[in-house]
Amino acid sequence: MITYEQIEKAIDGVAERMNRDFEGCTDVPVLLCILNGSILFTAELMKRLDFNVELVSMKLSSYVGTSSTGKIRQVMGMTGDIKGKRVIIVEDIVDTGNTIVDLDRIVREKGATQVKICTMLLKPAVYNKPLKLDYVGMEIPNDFIVGFGLDYDEVGRNLKDIYVLDPDPDYHVVQQADNTQNASHMKYYILFGPPGAGKGTQATAMVEKYNLRHISTGALLREEIAAGTELGLKAKALIDAGALVPDEVVEGMIENLFAKVKDVDGFLLDGFPRTIAQAEALDSILAKKGEKVTSVVSIMIPDDMIKERIRHRAAIEGRADDASEDTINNRIKTYHDKTEPLIDFYKKAGKYAEIEGTGTIEQVRESIFTLMDKF
Ligand code: IMP
Ligand code: MG
Repeated sequence: MITYEQIEKAIDGVAERMNRDFEGCTDVPVLLCILNGSILFTAELMKRLDFNVELVSMKLSSYVGTSSTGKIRQVMGMTGDIKGKRVIIVEDIVDTGNTIVDLDRIVREKGATQVKICTMLLKPAVYNKPLKLDYVGMEIPNDFIVGFGLDYDEVGRNLKDIYVLDPDPDYHVVQQADNTQNASHMKYYILFGPPGAGKGTQATAMVEKYNLRHISTGALLREEIAAGTELGLKAKALIDAGALVPDEVVEGMIENLFAKVKDVDGFLLDGFPRTIAQAEALDSILAKKGEKVTSVVSIMIPDDMIKERIRHRAAIEGRADDASEDTINNRIKTYHDKTEPLIDFYKKAGKYAEIEGTGTIEQVRESIFTLMDKF
């Protein structure tokens, strides 16, 4: 995707701008290398700087637990003191921006007097945080990439050039073959979001604006049962026996619906896939049709806001499952445990986009529309 020469040129540009901004400085700003990804970038950048810098490295743990204050990431060692100093955070890549927002906060909390953010790469299609990025080497599309320090499960950091990860090469061959015969593709969106994020409200607006069929697996089961289809009968027998409906049944229903519904421009999947196995099944159902997932739309709110909103809803609607603190905590935990692996799965497929769900209904809707307009 990007050759070593192009990367070098991008780094030249960043260094030039940084040298200009820090020209004649009398302090020794900290260059904060975020391990492991930005090792190569930091080294290349540092060689090009004309002013004195102090190199400090740090690593963030991945998200740990879920507390009342939401998801927390911890510093796993910072190799020097940054208190009272100006800090330039050096990142490999900014995707959703969650990491850089956490980093900015942590560095300020540790007493930095000024924070500048520098990233080798940026995915503008998915970055939607208000935080200003001071130095950006290069903007890239929403693909999952490896090389020049960036990894796929720790592998690939040594590659000199940057490559797009191809999760399943055969899949793309099917795609291309079909593209030539069938120019009009359906859109397949997947809606993610914790309880209370406003998924229901936003789904209605999305479906209307983009002429999509909303597929909620729960509602679908009830429909199939009511219509007395073979699948419906199978599902009913299981539900009546108090058993869970297995993956194949849900997948079968979705496949049937994709084949049956014609008068729309696409689908909005809600509540499916719930597991990696289901996500893989969805990929193969779509590959058979020469289609693919368009994008995940993930509406994110912090854990304490989930609680607040559920409590608020409980007060209005008197729902029993909304009322107890334990139940709420359990639902939040289930949500994190189940969806987090899927987020990673779709990030690696270059299909993950996150929307800040903390604003008003209208603000959130506008961010969703801005994202979906790109597709
Ligand atoms: P964010 O928090 O979503 O902005 O993601 C930033 C972090 O995710 C980076 O520091 C990387 O470790 C990782 N990341 C995001 N996109 C990619 C990619 O395309 N390839 C490899 N790692 C990535
Ligand atoms: Mg990284």
